Order: sequence, then C-alpha cells, then structure tokens
Amino acid sequence: MNVQWYPGHMTKAKRQMQEDIKLIDLIIELVDARVPLSSRNPDIDELGKNKSRLILLNKSDLADERQNEAWKTYFQAKGFYVVKVDSRNGSGMKAINNVIQEACKEKIERDRRRGIKNRPIRAMVVGIPNVGKSTFINTFAGRACAKTGNKPGVTKGKQWIRLNKGVELLDTPGILWPKFEDQQVGIRLACVGSIKDDILNMEELALWLIDYLRENYKGILAERYQITEEGTSVEVLEAIARARGCLKKQEELDYAKASLILFDDFRSGKVGRDHIGEGAIMKTIAEIKAEFAAADMSSYPALYEIYKEDTRSGVQKLIAQCRKKEAALEAEKQRIENMKVYEHKYEHLGYLCGIDEVGRGPLAGPVVACAVILPQDSRILYLNDSKKLSASKREELYDVIMR
Ligand code: G4P
Repeated sequence: MNVQWYPGHMTKAKRQMQEDIKLIDLIIELVDARVPLSSRNPDIDELGKNKSRLILLNKSDLADERQNEAWKTYFQAKGFYVVKVDSRNGSGMKAINNVIQEACKEKIERDRRRGIKNRPIRAMVVGIPNVGKSTFINTFAGRACAKTGNKPGVTKGKQWIRLNKGVELLDTPGILWPKFEDQQVGIRLACVGSIKDDILNMEELALWLIDYLRENYKGILAERYQITEEGTSVEVLEAIARARGCLKKQEELDYAKASLILFDDFRSGKVGRDHIGEGAIMKTIAEIKAEFAAADMSSYPALYEIYKEDTRSGVQKLIAQCRKKEAALEAEKQRIENMKVYEHKYEHLGYLCGIDEVGRGPLAGPVVACAVILPQDSRILYLNDSKKLSASKREELYDVIMR
C-alpha cells in the first residue's frame, strides 16, 4: 500500500522556512505524541542548527502516558528541550514559557553582556500538516490569530504575535514534510488520523491494520469485537462488520462502515490504547532493531522504557541483548580500572612503566626493551596482553593508542 499526500510545493516551503529561520532564536517543533518519529522530519535539524530547539509532544492526550514520558526522555537525551502538551484543551501551556527562557538562556546572557535589554525572544512553530500547529498557536497565544489550513506560502508580510514574558511568535507556522521515502511512515500517519481520511483508501488501510494487529497483538481484535481472528484479513473485516451490524440495503455487508469503526476504536485508544505509542504497536521488530543499532548506548535506557510494554518476544530478546552489551561494557571499564592499581599506588612517583620479560625460553642476549607510556587519564578499552588479543584487535588498538 502506498500512502502519498503531499506532492509538489515542498521546495518552496523549504526555501520559505530557511528565510524565516534566519529571523528567529528558537524553533518550536510540534510532533504527534503517538507517532513522534514518523511525524517529524529530521531535515529540520539541519535547517535549524545553531538555533535553540524545543519539541512539543502534541496530542499527548491521545497517547499512552508512560510512552509520553519515555519519549520525553528520549528527545531530552538528544539535547532537545521537551514539553508534553494538549493544544486542544491547553494542558502543558504554562510550562512552556519557563522552558523557552531556559532554552534561550545563552542568547539572553549574550544580549545582557552587550548591554541589550529586553529584546524579545523570537520563535517559530514548525511541524508536518495536521500535527496541530494552528491549534497550538491559537491556544498558546490565547486568541484566534493563526491561520488554519495547510497552504504553504500564504504569508505576505511577516506578522509577529507578541506573547508575554518577552516572546514573539511568527504567526505563520513552518510546514515540514513527512519522510515518505519510508512507506511505513505514511501508513502510521494514516492510522493515527494525521492524513485526511477522504484521500485514503480506508478499507485497504483497515486490512493492513487488521494484519498488523493480528501479527503483533494477537487477541486484541477478538476481545474487542467478540470475533475469531482466523482467516484472511478480509474475513476478519467481514466479521467486524457482522458483529457491529454494518449492513447496506439488501443485507450486504458495509466494509467502509466497519473500517471506520475499527479506526475510531483504534484512534481513540479502544483497540490497543496501551500500545498506541509508535514505540510499541506501530513498528516492526526490524525497525526497532535498526533504531537500537543507530542509538548511542546512553540512549538505551530511554529506548527500554519505550519498548518495555511490547510483548513481542523478539523485542524483549533485543532488550535483553542490549542490557547484556551494557553490562559487558561496564565490566570492561571495571577491568581497565583494576589494571591501574599500580598507577594509583605509585602515582606520587610520576610516570610509571612496567616491563614484561621477553619470553622465558631462549637466551635472548642483550635485551632491548621499549614501552609506550600512556597519559595518566587514558582509558583505552580492551587493552590487554597482546597474546590475549586477536590480530585484528591488535591492529585496531594500535591505531587507538597512536592517536
Ligand atoms: P496544523 O495546523 O498543524 O495543520 O494542525 P491543526 O491545528 O489544524 O490541527 C489538526 C487537528 O488536530 C485538528 O482536529 C485539531 O483540533 C487537532 N488537535 C490539535 N492539537 C491537538 C491536541 O493536542 N489534542 C487533540 N486531541 N487534538 C489536537 P480536526 O478534527 O482536524 O479539526 P477540529 O474540528 O478539531 O478543529
């Protein structure tokens, strides 16, 4: 299935955003808390480098609270300021002002040193369509001043909305484009309702969701609709239609209606609420593996948190492997620390050098010995007696030592 809905005019929007970014100090990026990865485009990291960054986990009311917390930690570990918000009812708004001050403290300090007083922080809101940019601006600014609708390039002159606490917001949000190269992204965005239903083939999407739920969360559909999950996905959709009395005239089953019921239930969390976060239900095991592989080990705890509720054995096995990897690294650090026992004991003597004997067997004659003395704070992992190292590891360590 191929979900496509944002053709053309993106180059223009991107150019516009590049211009707008020059005018601002802070980028406020909205992501959908249910699918925070699919609903963001990392191109903004390049466009917005050197700017302060705040990520808002919007629609947090529709996502699982534990997952919200985990995603918050995840993005914080990547250096973003993060606030969870519900732009519709305004929750989380109060916290934003303080976080903005914190995120821009370097700029405020720089202004102070140059004798500039009270220059407002200028910010702009960015995000993909339907993520809630206009709703957020209206709620945050406290009046209906943002234009709704997704038409890039509607701004004529630059309009700034003056907020309290010395913050000014560009009234037109920057529209980012989803990363459609990955098909799953489009499907995920469609599943959470971030792509307007009228341009989607809802029945086809429903069949995809049925397969996904059956494969990853066996029993969820059976429990909700009191049906059997066996058979083809069309048969399951049929069973849902029958269970919910979705009939057209002449007793014909109404698949479109059954699909809508399934999506209403899914989007409001009645089917798989606990798993609606992208971390759990919306990803394949291969995708999660790739995410772990790309992550720094310091991000592992945040990832564990995101996936701890995921009952798939493949995911739990992956977490166990990563924990083992972490433990092994800790043990290695400890081993290196233990090797420094003499250095610590005799550190008052200055540089220390230990020399091993040159083999016990043959009489070697005059012995030439040499040693590499490493800096005192050096912590080169996996350093060991050369006999205990493979040839390739020795080569690798040679480069590290000589660096
Ligand atoms: P955009 O400017 O980024 O394109 O998005 P927009 O504000 O138009 O919001 C898209 C939809 O998301 C709207 O729903 C809006 O109400 C909803 N929304 C925005 N923020 C939140 C939030 O924090 N929580 C929830 N639950 N919904 C949110 P709609 O059905 O398209 O329109 P409407 O009839 O509700 O206005």
